[in-house]
Amino acid sequence: MLGGQPVIVLKEGTESTRGKTAHSNNIMAAKAVADAVRSTLGPKGMDKMLVDSMGDIVITNDGATILKELDIEHPAAKMVVEVAKTQDNECGDGTTSAVVLAGELLKKSETLIDQNVHPTVISNGFRLASHEAIRILKEIGFEVSATDKKTLKLIATTAMTGKGVGGERDILADIAVDAVTSVAEMRDGKHQADIDNIQVEKKHGGAVSDTKLIKGLVLDKERVHPRMPKVVKEAKVALVDSALEIKKTEVEAKIQIRDPNQMQKFLDEEEKTLKAMVEKVKKSGASVLICEKGIDDLAQHYLAKEGMYAIRRVKRSDMEKLAKATGAKIITNLDDLKSSELGYAAQVEEVKIADSDMTYVTGCKNPKAVSILIRGGTEHVVDEVERALHDALKVVAVAIEDGIAVPGGGAPEIELALRLRDFGQTVGGREQLAIEAFAEALEVIPWTLAENAGMDAIDVVIELKNAHNKKTGKSFGVNVLENRVSDMMVAKVIEPLRVKTQAIQSATEVASMILRIDDVIASKKSAPQERGPGGPPGMGGMGGMPPGMM
Ligand SMILES: Nc1ncnc2c1ncn2[C@@H]1O[C@H](COP(=O)(O)OP(=O)(O)O)[C@@H](O)[C@H]1O
Ligand SMILES: [Mg+2]
Repeated sequence: MLGGQPVIVLKEGTESTRGKTAHSNNIMAAKAVADAVRSTLGPKGMDKMLVDSMGDIVITNDGATILKELDIEHPAAKMVVEVAKTQDNECGDGTTSAVVLAGELLKKSETLIDQNVHPTVISNGFRLASHEAIRILKEIGFEVSATDKKTLKLIATTAMTGKGVGGERDILADIAVDAVTSVAEMRDGKHQADIDNIQVEKKHGGAVSDTKLIKGLVLDKERVHPRMPKVVKEAKVALVDSALEIKKTEVEAKIQIRDPNQMQKFLDEEEKTLKAMVEKVKKSGASVLICEKGIDDLAQHYLAKEGMYAIRRVKRSDMEKLAKATGAKIITNLDDLKSSELGYAAQVEEVKIADSDMTYVTGCKNPKAVSILIRGGTEHVVDEVERALHDALKVVAVAIEDGIAVPGGGAPEIELALRLRDFGQTVGGREQLAIEAFAEALEVIPWTLAENAGMDAIDVVIELKNAHNKKTGKSFGVNVLENRVSDMMVAKVIEPLRVKTQAIQSATEVASMILRIDDVIASKKSAPQERGPGGPPGMGGMGGMPPGMM
């Protein structure tokens, strides 16, 4: 109050929650997110069926996908979802683990807060523990060479376990390793593997085992005219990003024609223009034309007459991939089309897959161009294979780039839990409590793996700790397939180091961030607007419904 006048700082309707309430609300929300994905962790984890407001369903086991599909409101919960996204971008795998770990760190902090340990102290302790954990992980890790296809395959297989690809895991793992090793290269003395260079196409029909790696590019496009050749060998490829059509005027204009001759002249002129366009393509020496825009019917006819192979309306991203693969330049003005701008592919061919025709561009100038054509019984199967394959491609790429891996199955987490407790003693003070809580939180991974496999989690964790206390048991983890504790190196469960370090880093960051919030000031929500069926995507639940529909 200033001179009896209330000072209004925040807008009317603004909600503010402070101190302990803010803490427990945030922690509760974050834990709820972790609980939502917990049951999917590990090879024996369950799948989730998600139905969006439009009735579309997604069946998945992938943490990042589940959280992406959920319509999450609470700000703290949204922060946890971000962890999954970061993990997915950086490593392609370990999203569930990262979120579950973040939830567990917050759960353990709750207990500490109740014991009057200040959140800042907890946050500091967590940071110390996370640094030490990453140091230890690097120590546990073993080298993986970029050419060691056998180990890379195990890494791919581990990432795909439990992803509903079952028996085809083996084939898919081989494909993933072949694809990534083909695009991997040395840049500035470092291994780089950019999986964006691997083109992925999906076509349902057939079996998952029909999924193939193609040394070249696959385009979901058929040739524009049936009289064009089905196969072109030693193809000279022209890439054009403008239309082979007569331009329509922007303004509406009317031409009045009174004389039939005038009409004929008009059409002849159009024909001449299109013919001239095709001439230009032909003159460059091209035998294949790939166009980003449309090709007029008449132009298609002329192209066919010239014996050329042409496809149209190709995606920009595919045009760029084609340019990289064949060495062609993307041309806008047909006058610029010279033989020096053309690309090369040993073969361009139309191939019938299921009931659609696709164009295969193989034997490209750049051998690094590879594609994967995913097959499977239904669209949902194909989609889940795509997600599994994405994880596999990314982990193989990460393993090649970093050259270091660790055993999985909860082995590193147990080892860390034990060694962090020792580390805590060297730090002492209240931070020690936080470091111990951090160590305990890590045990949630083997615990949940065991739980989801129907094993007795307490017994498993105790047995694991005993094993890790011995010199020979450092890589013991939860063998969920045999329902026992065993050496993960022997069970061939291997993950890239980055999957673990990134998960620990981002889980710690989000937990510390949430812990340090003691005041949540939320503006008044704007009234829900009416949205038609074409409303923005991701507006699941009841939020998108007009009033009166609930
Ligand atoms: N065959 C296996 N036996 C035991 N644990 C496994 C096996 N394959 C994978 N895991 C473990 O499962 C966990 C990953 O589960 P997953 O459901 O893929 O979640 P995330 O989204 O975290 O990758 C990792 O801890 C990994 O080591
Ligand atoms: Mg995984």
